[in-house]
Amino acid sequence: MAPVIKNLEKRKIKNLLVLFIIFSLFAINEASCNENGKILAYVAGCYGCHTSNPEEPFGGGYEIKTKYGIFISPNISKDEKNGIGNWSKEQFIKAIKTGLNPDDKPYYPAFPYNWYADMKDSDIIKIYNYIYSLPAIKKKDANHNLKFPYNIRNSLWFWRFANKILSNQNKIQNKTDYKRGQYLVNSVAHCGACHSPLTFFSIIKDYNNLSGRQETSKYLNDSVPNISNDITDGIGSWTISDIVFFLQTGIKPNGDFVEEDMSSIIEHGTKFLTENDLEEIAKYLLEIK
Ligand code: HEC
Ligand code: HEC
Repeated sequence: MAPVIKNLEKRKIKNLLVLFIIFSLFAINEASCNENGKILAYVAGCYGCHTSNPEEPFGGGYEIKTKYGIFISPNISKDEKNGIGNWSKEQFIKAIKTGLNPDDKPYYPAFPYNWYADMKDSDIIKIYNYIYSLPAIKKKDANHNLKFPYNIRNSLWFWRFANKILSNQNKIQNKTDYKRGQYLVNSVAHCGACHSPLTFFSIIKDYNNLSGRQETSKYLNDSVPNISNDITDGIGSWTISDIVFFLQTGIKPNGDFVEEDMSSIIEHGTKFLTENDLEEIAKYLLEIK
């Protein structure tokens, strides 16, 4: 009897070992998938804009002050009642790429979905999986505090129509031949959402022009610098390593620290990118007109 039991024990241990190895491989694989999803969620600003308290990641409540009033980001954690816990992947992709909710109601462009329109579905699913790997946050959405008539959600149909006619956004939608740096700048990290000039009703004619923005109101002090490769007005005199260092640390070539919204973009976003991705961004910024 004894040797049989011994053999059985041995086999059990062997099986357990094999199981353990398979499980670890799976866990590592899962962890690195989530790591990719995490980096994307940070660089795309989902984390920064949907988190007001670091202990409640994606719980919403972050305020976006604009001349139309204050937007308060919703809870996008996996909580079923307050967040998006009962959304399918398809509903999530639709919201991110088209700015329509599961009932086809339009979202405000304070949610920069127009930039995400040409994000790869596989990248959006990585973000979804990452958000769903985190705890559900039980925090109710707060209402936006917008001026009339911007508080009427249906007025967004007019905005969407005007944006379609007046901007080049249609042309860039579903572009698939992006180079890495161009994809990060023009889609995922949506640099033009702040750095491209605004026209009437905050419509951006050329989404990826990056030549900066005039102040829209003294109270908001919201001008944004030119980051095109123009030598005098833009950042054409910066080197690739100046840009990489800046997007990691917030320190400009002249030694000044960056301020305002850009420091959050770096702190919760670009500093998580690999050196290689940052170099691709820098190369793209220095070569575009
Ligand atoms: C600049 C801030 C900002 C960024 C960046 C941002 N969002 Fe949002 N998001 C918002 C705001 C504001 C709303 C609410 C829009 C509305 O009420 O029409 C919103 C709405 C949403 C909704 C709809 C929630 C609901 O309950 O209907 C989802 C889902 C969402 N965002 C996911 C994301 C993801 C994923 C990312 C990153 C890829 C992201 N957001 C990036 C500001 C942002
Ligand atoms: C939420 C709005 C916002 C987004 C998105 C954004 N920026 Fe900025 N950026 C700013 C603001 C505001 C400043 C000015 C900060 C200051 O004066 O210190 C700035 C400053 C900069 C500067 C310094 C320019 C100079 O001459 O001092 C660079 C470079 C820059 N941003 C690059 C980028 C890149 C690259 C991206 C995309 C990965 C990006 N920004 C996305 C708002 C934004």
